[in-house]
Amino acid sequence: MKIAVLGTGYVGLSTGVCLSEIGHHVTCMDINEQKIQQLNQGISPIYEPGLEELLSLNMNAGRLNFTTSLSTGIAGAEIIIIAVGTPQADNGAADLTYLEQAAEDLAPYLVQGSIVVIKSTVPVGTNDRIKKLIESQTNFEIHMVSNPEFLRQGSAISDTLKADRIIIGSENKDAAEKVKAMYLPLNVPVILTSTKSAEMIKYASNAFLAMKISYINEIANLCEAFGADVEDVAKGMGMDKRIGEAFLKAGIGYGGSCFPKDVKALLHTASQIGLNFWLLKETIAINEFQRELLVKKAVKRFGDLQGLKIAMLGLAFKPETDDMREAPSIKLAEALSKLGADTIAYDPVATENAKKVIGETIKYANSIDKAISDADAVFIVTEWETVKQINLPDMLHKMKQPIIFDGRNCLSEENIKTCKKVEYYPVGKPAIIIV
Ligand code: UDX
Repeated sequence: MKIAVLGTGYVGLSTGVCLSEIGHHVTCMDINEQKIQQLNQGISPIYEPGLEELLSLNMNAGRLNFTTSLSTGIAGAEIIIIAVGTPQADNGAADLTYLEQAAEDLAPYLVQGSIVVIKSTVPVGTNDRIKKLIESQTNFEIHMVSNPEFLRQGSAISDTLKADRIIIGSENKDAAEKVKAMYLPLNVPVILTSTKSAEMIKYASNAFLAMKISYINEIANLCEAFGADVEDVAKGMGMDKRIGEAFLKAGIGYGGSCFPKDVKALLHTASQIGLNFWLLKETIAINEFQRELLVKKAVKRFGDLQGLKIAMLGLAFKPETDDMREAPSIKLAEALSKLGADTIAYDPVATENAKKVIGETIKYANSIDKAISDADAVFIVTEWETVKQINLPDMLHKMKQPIIFDGRNCLSEENIKTCKKVEYYPVGKPAIIIV
């Protein structure tokens, strides 16, 4: 099939590349000329494992093109996919400015019966609104299909090629069947729904996962107080198929470009009809509390953080990404600097992005060694492989005091127990103190 994708962000680019990989002829469009130039040279503007290889492969095979011209991209396309950003507006709602602009820009190039797919995360009812907006500028009918995306940063390609399910929501059966046929080579279960249900599935899924994380984090806080081990508890819970083991990893809260924004947007949708979605409010409140957990623990341990050297290991919201959006490190850095700590952070890829968000309130090191040297305590913020594999005796030797607050429970307790002198404070598990 000939497919056009509008927007070359995470979702649009991964989608375009994967659709070309399964044999379609894809043209990706973006208004950002620099990005399109880069892509035309086979360079991916985002860091995503496996993406660049597939990009070159499919460009060389003549199945993948990039352009800033909508008329070129849309000409002859059987399916037009919109994958532009829907960031958070000041009131928590999803900001649909880019989407509405995209729809207006597309309208002149559409024809009777064009199939327009919205992949961007949009509140329930948006497909209907966009249909009206486009049809107000054309004098013919188009067909909308809601096709939300569930890929994660860091595993976008495999999440797309080996998705758990594909959701296709449309009021037009033929359009839904056409989009289903586009995905056929993936051999992934497809669920056909109304557009509104499809829109809701995306928010309901992300909010549920965020809630699952906040739930296990609250259980972790209980475990810690009563001497239980949250990892054993999560394992025991997760083996119940009704609960499932995924997203039960306790830590210092969820971040990133989706969960925080989507939970707030769903809350906003609920508030529009006067519904108090208490569960979501608590999900957010627990996450806010959790983000500062390590600082609270350090204050409890030291009494006063003034002048103490704290090494933060990891800045990105999760490993394998340089994304700093809603990263717990931001709140931690802010709290540490307010309390007068001398903070020095290390991250293998996110430092430059972190500097833009956190600024000069903390220092940045270009190696783990530099960050931990002479530190009074280490905060583990992101579970990077290099942090997990750290040589513990060597690290403890270089620190002023051998004190570790592990916000991701990523160090091996077995290794900790072999240390001569250490204070190890994980999340939701008993501390290990060897003096
Ligand atoms: C998420 C959704 O998983 C994906 O389906 C959606 O399309 C976009 O948002 P992403 O933000 O890339 O993907 O990351 P994900 O791996 O889901 O992690 C989100 C956050 O939750 C991270 O900060 C992570 O550290 C945290 N997390 C995740 C936990 O704290 N515990 C867990 O058990 C899982």
